[in-house]
Amino acid sequence: MPIPERYLEELTERNDIVDVVGQYVRLSKKSGANYFGLCPFHSEKTPSFSVNPSRQIYHCFGCGKGGGVISFIMEVENLSFQDAVAFLARRVNMPPPEDTDAEGSSRRKVLLELNRDAARFFHEQLLGPQGAPARSYVARRGISPAMVKNFGLGYAPDSWSSLRDAMEQKGYSLQDLFEAGLIKRGKNGSGGYDAFRNRLMFPVIDVRGSVIGFSGRILGDGEPKYLNSPETRVFSKSHNLFGLNLAKKSKNGYIILVEGNIDVVSLHQAGFSGAVASLGTSLTAEQARLISRFTDEVVLCYDSDEAGRKATARAIGILEKLELKVRVLQVPGAKDPDEFIQKNGPDAFRNLIEGSANQVEYRLRDLERLHPPEGDEGRVDYLKAAVELLSGLPGSVEREVYAQRVADKAGVSRQAVLSEVARVRKRKFSAQRKKEVRDQTRPAQTAQPVFRSIRYDDPRSARAEEGLIRLLYLDPSLARGRELPEPECFSSPVLGKFYAELLGRIQSGESLSMGVLAGRFTPDEVSHLTSVLNGTADLQNAPKALDDYIHIISHREDDGEDLRQMAEEYRKTKAYGGTI
Ligand code: CTP
Ligand code: MN
Repeated sequence: MPIPERYLEELTERNDIVDVVGQYVRLSKKSGANYFGLCPFHSEKTPSFSVNPSRQIYHCFGCGKGGGVISFIMEVENLSFQDAVAFLARRVNMPPPEDTDAEGSSRRKVLLELNRDAARFFHEQLLGPQGAPARSYVARRGISPAMVKNFGLGYAPDSWSSLRDAMEQKGYSLQDLFEAGLIKRGKNGSGGYDAFRNRLMFPVIDVRGSVIGFSGRILGDGEPKYLNSPETRVFSKSHNLFGLNLAKKSKNGYIILVEGNIDVVSLHQAGFSGAVASLGTSLTAEQARLISRFTDEVVLCYDSDEAGRKATARAIGILEKLELKVRVLQVPGAKDPDEFIQKNGPDAFRNLIEGSANQVEYRLRDLERLHPPEGDEGRVDYLKAAVELLSGLPGSVEREVYAQRVADKAGVSRQAVLSEVARVRKRKFSAQRKKEVRDQTRPAQTAQPVFRSIRYDDPRSARAEEGLIRLLYLDPSLARGRELPEPECFSSPVLGKFYAELLGRIQSGESLSMGVLAGRFTPDEVSHLTSVLNGTADLQNAPKALDDYIHIISHREDDGEDLRQMAEEYRKTKAYGGTI
């Protein structure tokens, strides 16, 4: 049963989008009606994420994401529609909606119970007679029994059905096991076999303490080194970190980000209880946000190979946006923190952390490696890159301090460096201002939507369709006393779908709030709808514009020269925002 619409309306009224988004994104009001900030859904340096307070929608010109306040929470907190509603309800102390997605949440409950039982099973196997090979691997890696217990490590036996048999005996169905990603279907779709075999098992436990999935590491060398649970109702690789359930309680004061699960366990064992690892993907914005709930300082400790350096640079960008302090730690003479600690002990590692470079130092050092400041040409290259880096630093004190360092390296005066930095900053800021102006004044819709999955066959008609949808949304009374086209007349099926929904709601006097609409469409569709609604509209000339839109949509079959001319004229006069 769906959540009552009145409830959704009240919820979206009480959760103002500027307040809600403002808790995740630093918004500022530069000009016009919109607020702007750095998009939380993709990596960017200049703000292209806009929030429109009067329409209560957000829209990113960069990645195309958009929607109302519920969509925002779904996206940013990785919640289902129902959970996002519950989240916002808690935020404003509204009682939870009577009806949640009863079926979905009961499935999630089953999967979580199954995961916990599977984790117990794996753990018992590790300690039992079957577990000898895994126990000897654990011992070889120097992992203590206490860590085996803390992390709930386990062993998936070298068998095609031991987990399946055990879980079926407990009453779980094959369907449950498939959905949890614990078994895979046989060749001809029949039966199913254990997905994890002969692996050391690391349960992935979320910050609430639920077992949501598994990583299985091969015992020793071989490929693939790690197998991870697939995405399920309860597990998403990009939104969780291995070890965070323990690291969130760490008194270290910082989170250490490493590559492998073994490194995490080994660091915890050595007393660095803030260690976490991502689950086989590079760091995501969601993971960074999760981290920022528990700490304001992150130590990056990736491998020092080329891949590790790239991952480090990426992670710095993501973490900085959340204003986390970032330090970069490189372990000398070892391939990873585990090996370093095994060789040199915890104290040596603590010294490394204390002496680890902050991210500016790290990046400058990285530049030196890429552009050694030797010879005239080398020094010029180095200076160019360093000036670019310094010009991106927000604080003037910081810029001065590092300018000195760069000057020393390149053998020029500090003043020379600083004036170069000032020049670049000036250029950057004027480019940024121009871009903002462009974003805010650009024709409402460019020829094609951002999402590849949505293409317009007839862009001209589609723009009229968009215009019609936008105007009806902004002023439903325009529908009165007009003959409106049927949704089937639309050239774009997705726009036809929006239009049919809007029209139906207008005609029966139902709500058009984004909160209600968000539940009716897929997230991509909501984003697209938002970008349509976000376009420029001049309500003063709305009746005339509306009629013109209708004309174009209804006559798109006889695609005559006169229509093209008409459109041309509109463009020239820009009678209503130049949206055709
Ligand atoms: N990885 C993965 N899934 C995980 C964890 C890590 O696919 N759940 C990947 C990482 O992306 C990285 C590698 O596996 O590429 C982990 O690296 P490594 O540090 O080598 O793993 P460890 O278990 O620490 O193994 P080793 O002792 O050999 O360092
Ligand atoms: Mn490792």
